[in-house]
Amino acid sequence: MSSVGYLQYEIQFGEVAKNLATVDALLPDFSDADLLVLPELAFTGYDFPDKETLQNLAERPESGECIQQLKVWAKKCTMTLVAGYPEKADEGCYNSCALVLPDGTVHSYRKIHLFNREQDLFLPGNAPPKVYDTPAGRVGLMICFDWFFPETARSLAIQGAQILAHPSNLVLQYCQQAMFARCVENKVFAVTANRIGTETQAGRELTFTGASQILDVQGNTLAAAPEAEAHGAVVEFDPELADDKTIADRNHLFDNRRPDLYDGLC
Ligand code: ACM
Repeated sequence: MSSVGYLQYEIQFGEVAKNLATVDALLPDFSDADLLVLPELAFTGYDFPDKETLQNLAERPESGECIQQLKVWAKKCTMTLVAGYPEKADEGCYNSCALVLPDGTVHSYRKIHLFNREQDLFLPGNAPPKVYDTPAGRVGLMICFDWFFPETARSLAIQGAQILAHPSNLVLQYCQQAMFARCVENKVFAVTANRIGTETQAGRELTFTGASQILDVQGNTLAAAPEAEAHGAVVEFDPELADDKTIADRNHLFDNRRPDLYDGLC
């Protein structure tokens, strides 16, 4: 069995120290989790006014302040943490998330489907989403709008993901319902860690939809957060339930696919 959870909280744009302190204060109540998922851009906020601001708040996975703090928490609580951060690279910035293991190993995924204005700021991820072995199970990483493209979750399931870790800053309403399908059609668990609050930049107002959730391989809700309040949850499940891809006696999720007839899919 694994203990898996999320933290949902308000993020103040640009106030990295304050946002780190918010998580530091929430963490002790959820320190029994084997895997804890935090939102997309978990410590910086979302709506960067320009590339310069983004560059100033971005960090490198090997040395950044927030990644270092994630390592401290992961070690102290013996947990795997997943959290979004703006990743600085020589060629620009990516909207990334880090998976930090209790031993301090850091893996990083760069969001491949950029939402709306993100396309003016970030480079699109340049590597396939991947699955990582953790003490909580095999965890596949995807970020927020990646949900809209079922190929993302399917590719992670084919690689053997048992749990989708899905840091988010959702502004559209229907992801939470749609993740039911991602779980059922792939027989995987999913943790969507969303944020709350409103960001106002240059007349743009973005309100994030909260309602973080943990779904099981049949799409059942194991935990759900309110839409506009800070919330955390940890639930227990057996990640190996995701290894059985049987649908009915004579149906198998992967074996019954007909890629020869899916014209135009790729
Ligand atoms: C989103 O991908 N942050 C909507």
